[in-house]
Amino acid sequence: MKKMFVRAAVTFVSLLLLTAGCSQTAPNPASTGTADLTNKVNNIVAKAIPRFSTQMKGVSDSFDNVYYAAKGGNWALAKYMADLANNFMSPTQITKPQLYSLWASFDKANLAAGSPLDKALNSKDFSAFKTAYNDVISNCNSCHASQGFKYIQKVKAGAPVTNLNFSASSEPGDFH
Ligand code: HEC
Repeated sequence: MKKMFVRAAVTFVSLLLLTAGCSQTAPNPASTGTADLTNKVNNIVAKAIPRFSTQMKGVSDSFDNVYYAAKGGNWALAKYMADLANNFMSPTQITKPQLYSLWASFDKANLAAGSPLDKALNSKDFSAFKTAYNDVISNCNSCHASQGFKYIQKVKAGAPVTNLNFSASSEPGDFH
C-alpha cells in the first residue's frame, strides 16, 4: 500500500510539473523561479492528499476489527488489522509530518510487533489482549486530547465494521 501510494504521488507530481511547464506561454527564468513552482506543486499535493482526519477513520475501523477478530479466534486477521492501521496514516507523512511522527511512536508502542497487544495476539491470550486493547484506547484518546481534540473519545465498537468472517480459525503465524 505504501509503495502504491508513493508511486501514485510521484506520477501525480510529474503530471503537475508537466502541466505547469506547458501552461507557461512566455517562460521567464527570472520571475518564474523553481521555488515558485515547488510552492505551487506542494500546495496542490497537500490539498490532494487525504488529511489526518480522513485517515483516522481507517485507523478507527481497522482497530475495531482487531477486537472482533481476536474475540473470534481469527488471530491472523487480528494481526492483519492492527498492521493495517499504520498503512492508513502513511500519506500524512507529507501533509502532517510532525503529527505523523507522533503517530509513528504511538504505533510502535501500541500496535506494532513487540507491543503488549501484539504479544497477546501472538500467544492467543484473549484476556491479556483485552487489557492491552483498553490501554491502547486510552492512548488514542491521550493523543486526541494533546492535539486539542479532547471531545474525540474513542470507545470500543459494539460490532465489527467490515463484513468478514471474524471467527474463521487462523494462527497468529498465518499473518504475513
Ligand atoms: C498522533 C496522535 C493521534 C493518535 C495516536 C490517534 N489519533 Fe485519532 N485523531 C488525531 C487527530 C489530530 C484527530 C483530528 C484530526 C482532524 O480533524 O484534523 C483524530 C481524529 C480521530 C477520529 C475522528 C475522525 C474520523 O475520521 O472519524 C477518530 C475516530 C480517531 N481519531 C480514532 C483514533 C483511534 C481509534 C486511535 C488509536 C488506535 C487514534 N485515533 C489515535 C490524532 C491521533
